[in-house]
Amino acid sequence: MPENFVVTPWEVTGDIDYERLIEMFGTQKIDSKIISKFVEHTGELHTMLRRGIFYSHRDMDKIFQDVESGAGFVMYTGRGPSGHTHLGHLMPWLFTKYLQDKFGIELYFQMTDDEKFMFNQNLTMEDTRKYAYENALDIIALGFDPEKTHIFLDTEYSNQLYKIAIKVAKKVTFNTTKAVFGFNNSTNIGSIWFTSMQAAPAFLPSVLRGRNIRCVIPCAIDQDPHFRVARDIAEGIGFYKPALLHCKMLPSLAGSDKMSASLPNTSIFTIDKPKDIKKKIGNAFTGGCVSVEEQKVKGGNPDICSVYQYLYYIFEENDAKLEDRKTKCRSGELLCGYCKQYLTEKVVTFIEAHQVRREQAREILEKFMLRDCQGEEK
Ligand code: TYM
Repeated sequence: MPENFVVTPWEVTGDIDYERLIEMFGTQKIDSKIISKFVEHTGELHTMLRRGIFYSHRDMDKIFQDVESGAGFVMYTGRGPSGHTHLGHLMPWLFTKYLQDKFGIELYFQMTDDEKFMFNQNLTMEDTRKYAYENALDIIALGFDPEKTHIFLDTEYSNQLYKIAIKVAKKVTFNTTKAVFGFNNSTNIGSIWFTSMQAAPAFLPSVLRGRNIRCVIPCAIDQDPHFRVARDIAEGIGFYKPALLHCKMLPSLAGSDKMSASLPNTSIFTIDKPKDIKKKIGNAFTGGCVSVEEQKVKGGNPDICSVYQYLYYIFEENDAKLEDRKTKCRSGELLCGYCKQYLTEKVVTFIEAHQVRREQAREILEKFMLRDCQGEEK
């Protein structure tokens, strides 16, 4: 039976069956063994692991072996700068920051300004470059360690990346990219090549150190196809296969699909003003009934409610409070207006504080940047 959802690095639609994705992509569930390794090494169980938000992985057992042997590991993640940052992007980055704090490790952060230029007819190179620097402010605002975090744009670090990317490209056939990404003969050749650029930073830390070091990539599951390709060729070009940690996708405020920059009314951006946030959450899809009277009698359905999802994924860390909200919603005691107001307050508080740090980030941006050429004037 065909799936009624689509998950690729460029399209996420429908009602995603995450367990099915594990089978389709050939990844592994984060099971009790991996969970207990996290607990052993961090002394706690992070909310995103406890709630199964980070739920799938590749080779995390090997990462823990390297932690235990003293070989260590590094992290790599990224952003395709096609617009401003939204709350969905922050999910994997918040967890990445947590891992950097707990394990004291280096992070390589790729800005694929080339990708967004090549895949999007409406964006110029100036646009994607501008957004890359805007998005970098959000990353820095999350509090990553400037000594251990290296941000780069593909077009500004191309000398270093190109030398790795051509090794990848030599091993990846057009047939593979067609099968994995759905490309065809009309796809521009930049897009066909691009997966070699996204693979390259997984091997970069080994190149920079002059010895192989394992790398883990925290991201949402939509990015996995790139790394399936990277893993297939890694050992053939002399590197470890990158490990992965996958999270689920924060849905849009319309209730289904992912939060996406191309749907601005149902996504919350880090640059949004409180009044915009209030309006967007006010119009959000909920599991409520058509009238208050009906809802008081029949109750609501938190399972399909986007407001509940936002609390679950990011904004309510307290399990007991979340459970209480669910029970009261189902019984009709708690109405949608109250939940919307509660979420609005949480989001506004978070975004206002983020925006202050985002402005301060401008002062220290340079400390984070890796470049081998300056590109155009900023
Ligand atoms: P991009 O810019 O689409 O997304 C950046 C990161 O955010 C994740 N993400 C989400 N997570 C949760 N809920 C959502 N609604 C949501 N939307 C996006 C993505 O999985 C990603 O982790 N080609 C990449 C950029 C990139 C990259 C990487 C990403 C380059 N190297 C390495 C991850 C790891 C892109 O366009 O991501």
